[in-house]
Amino acid sequence: MERKITIAIDGPAAAGKSTVAKLVAKALNITYIDTGAMYRAFTWYALEKNVDCKDEKSCLKLIDEIHIELRPNNIVLCNNHDVTKEIRQPRVSSQVSYIASYKDVRLFLVDQQRKMAEKHSVVMDGRDIGTYVLPNADVKIFQIASVETRAVRRYDENISKGIQCTLEEIENDVRSRDYIDSHRDFAPLKAAGDSVLLDTSYLTIEESVDKVLQIIEKKTGVKPNE
Ligand code: DC
Repeated sequence: MERKITIAIDGPAAAGKSTVAKLVAKALNITYIDTGAMYRAFTWYALEKNVDCKDEKSCLKLIDEIHIELRPNNIVLCNNHDVTKEIRQPRVSSQVSYIASYKDVRLFLVDQQRKMAEKHSVVMDGRDIGTYVLPNADVKIFQIASVETRAVRRYDENISKGIQCTLEEIENDVRSRDYIDSHRDFAPLKAAGDSVLLDTSYLTIEESVDKVLQIIEKKTGVKPNE
């Protein structure tokens, strides 16, 4: 694949964006960027430093001392500490939307996200990729599924990774994050006007990936190598 392309996949919590984005990136042999992992790493760091995630002023002070790196194979480093697993824990999930609502945290991370998309073809997933981070993305997908479907999927995923939780906790977390993410002032979760809506409630992972690949081919001419 020669042409440089940028694919934005946005949508609410646990809609399966990262699963689909990873497989699409693999099929096209391009880089996958999980922007949620960056907000999660920031949250992990605040918790490590015993900073209250609802205290914006104290959280902003961390910007000068935090270094977040996304490595191949979805490894996430925070100040050289491998936090790949820890950032998926419920204690991080329940606080991350507060951190993600702070404009200066967003500007700090968005700057890095844009730099990552400058050089290479990327599939980037998040909440504001099509609306704010990469407004000129070649393809924009807004991926949704019902709250119940999303909660069951995330619950199954957590259990398979050994993360202790109940279905009720997950459903509450998903609802609460959707609310905070879509009601914040700066770059809230919303579908870009030129995005394609993909409802995966009744689709398998393979069907969702196929649909996204078809949309990409139609818009850019780029398709997986046979
Ligand atoms: O995709 P995720 O669940 O790992 O994202 C974690 C949180 O980070 C999510 O609740 C909202 C926030 N987020 C964001 O505000 N903007 C992004 N581009 C990605 C994630």
